[in-house]
Amino acid sequence: MKKIILLLIIIFGCKKSHQKLKPMNKKIVIAHRGASGYLPEHTLQAKAMAYAMHVDFIEQDLVLSKDDVPIVIHDIYLDDVTDVAKKFPDRKREDQRYYVIDFTFDELKTLQVSERFNPKNGKQVYSNRFPIWQGNFKLHSLQEEIEFIQGLNTSTGKDIGIYPEIKAPEFHQKENKNLTEIVLNVLSDYGYKTKKDNCILQCFNAKELERIRKELKSELFLVQLMEFKEETKQLAHFATYADGIGPWYRQILSEKVDGKFTFTSLVSDAHKLGLKVHPYTFRADALAEFTTFEEMMQTLLIDANVDGAFTDFPDKVIAFLGK
Ligand code: G3P
Ligand code: CA
Repeated sequence: MKKIILLLIIIFGCKKSHQKLKPMNKKIVIAHRGASGYLPEHTLQAKAMAYAMHVDFIEQDLVLSKDDVPIVIHDIYLDDVTDVAKKFPDRKREDQRYYVIDFTFDELKTLQVSERFNPKNGKQVYSNRFPIWQGNFKLHSLQEEIEFIQGLNTSTGKDIGIYPEIKAPEFHQKENKNLTEIVLNVLSDYGYKTKKDNCILQCFNAKELERIRKELKSELFLVQLMEFKEETKQLAHFATYADGIGPWYRQILSEKVDGKFTFTSLVSDAHKLGLKVHPYTFRADALAEFTTFEEMMQTLLIDANVDGAFTDFPDKVIAFLGK
């Protein structure tokens, strides 16, 4: 009898300590800035569309306002997705840019959000996407987006996760702002505290992500974003605090041999260290080295065996994985 009890403790004890969310054990689809291939990025409308596509996670890039509200926006700048230059022409800095951090939440709420454009020439970045300046879109806070997603989780009975990113922590520190602490507090207030809570926290800045785990003692699922080749040598260190990596997809690709892509050792090295691999960004309208989006998905999701994808076109990736 004692042996059976001991066995049960081992089985269930181990299961608990290694417990990962269900979606962490399959290839996950992350709506990159929402369904941003179809609607202006990071708007609640783009998030609703992504939700309705049955994604696993919806992404939130986070920057602080002047009055310390975490805003869901891709950059520390406002002038490539809003009409700030028209509404507040005197509020640009010397570098001619308009910064989220220079505006209160109430001021930010007055801005109109548009499909992304180049502030130098006013041209839409992805020409076949939602028409520039069309519609009525607004900025919103992390709290508003969490309430939106959790509300939908209640009304639909689904459990779709969030995938927030701490943006430019070094910039916020220079401005005497505690972005990370504020975000962690909001996440905790809404029940996102451990790896079981359907939240993945990401950051490009390795020192900051390590601090989140080791000093701030976060128990969330952490993903170290990567951009440069040299970072691939730091995988073993990343594994001391992170649960996964989010590489630029080109860090996974090697040369083409006889018309077939070959791969760097990044994915297998990461897997040996127990790290999940969620590359960015799968865009059906920016294929670069791929002939079709199907080829991109087959190459990275299947042949390179990554564990998920940040995508502007979640419906296409979900349809592909469902095949
Ligand atoms: O966070 C994953 C991916 O979004 C990284 O690139 O620049 O779109 O935030 P970025
Ligand atoms: Ca991001």
